[in-house]
Amino acid sequence: MTHATDAAGPGGAGDQDELVLVRATPLNAETPLAGLRAALTPAPVHYVRNHFAVPDHDGTLHLGGAVAHPLTLTLDDLRRLPAATLTVTLECAGNGRTSMVPLPPGEPWSGQAVATAAWTGVPLAEVMRRAGPRADAVALVFTGADHGPHDGGADIHYVRSLPVVEALRPEARVLLAYEMNGAALPPDHGAPLRLVVPRWYGMASVKWLARIEARTEPYEGQFQTRSYVYDDEGGSEPPAPVTLQRVKALITDPAPGSDLAAGHYLIRGKAWSGTGPVTRVEVSVDAGEWQEARLEAPGEPEAWQEWSFAWQATEIGRHALRARATDAAGHVQPAAAAWNRKGYGNNAPQLALVEVRRSSQ
Ligand code: MTE
Repeated sequence: MTHATDAAGPGGAGDQDELVLVRATPLNAETPLAGLRAALTPAPVHYVRNHFAVPDHDGTLHLGGAVAHPLTLTLDDLRRLPAATLTVTLECAGNGRTSMVPLPPGEPWSGQAVATAAWTGVPLAEVMRRAGPRADAVALVFTGADHGPHDGGADIHYVRSLPVVEALRPEARVLLAYEMNGAALPPDHGAPLRLVVPRWYGMASVKWLARIEARTEPYEGQFQTRSYVYDDEGGSEPPAPVTLQRVKALITDPAPGSDLAAGHYLIRGKAWSGTGPVTRVEVSVDAGEWQEARLEAPGEPEAWQEWSFAWQATEIGRHALRARATDAAGHVQPAAAAWNRKGYGNNAPQLALVEVRRSSQ
């Protein structure tokens, strides 16, 4: 008999269907397992990463700097432009920070600061075509309406930048989104307008987008060159910026921490990569050899893929489940996290512990 794998018994961890709170003010919360199991994460349980309080936004977007035609667009103006809907997996760069040793500072994300939603909006390239970036523009700078004292110091806005060539590359499919899963953007996810940068860690997808400025010099700022860099990861100086999502697999079933009756189970989960698609997922039980899981073909190019593995859970006791993914570029999850000072990009295989008990039948 194959058991339903969502049958986490008492003591099953993280199996609720509400956001898993990390910090109440500003709101920071992880996706519960219920939101990770579905192909699309319902908006109310999509993880939230806010640096500051949700701001007021006047509903207009200003485009300026090194452009031929500075523009101010209302939301209605944007809705009249050609729209696109993309299914995109967003993952916070600090996801999995709590399993780094020694523990870096920063929000203590366990492993569920990841989710997938369908975002509708205007391709950034459409809007920039109307503004006409000058030939010498090298960077687009995106300013969020949110702001606050950073680390108790100066009052700053959330600002991020992308190189012009990257932001406007057709395959990059960067979107100015005004809808999430077919409804207006919720306040915590950037209402009324946000950037969605597929394949990049979430910090690139600026919420409450108020202004886009083209610049002739690369942008330097708190959230560009001081945060979101791989500081001390054993390499470059200045430290390499955090960019594309690293390849990763996540176990959703059985729920980590479950009590299971002995029997046959499907170990299931999601896998994604910013340098993907994912081409392989393997599972290891109790640190045994890696065995091939069944991997679903990619659906949307920017969204996670489902995988499953049939497991004969006949041995009574505690078991350690791990999954690791490989992508088309040949990137494989490393056995251990590449430690860095701020705890970004941890893509070591997750450890899911489950308890197998004697079957009552
Ligand atoms: N945009 C603004 N304006 N302010 C923020 O704090 N957080 C970023 C990004 N965009 C942030 C932002 C980070 S670090 C992540 S991971 C994603 O938003 C999270 O998006 P979500 O809250 O919709 O999941």
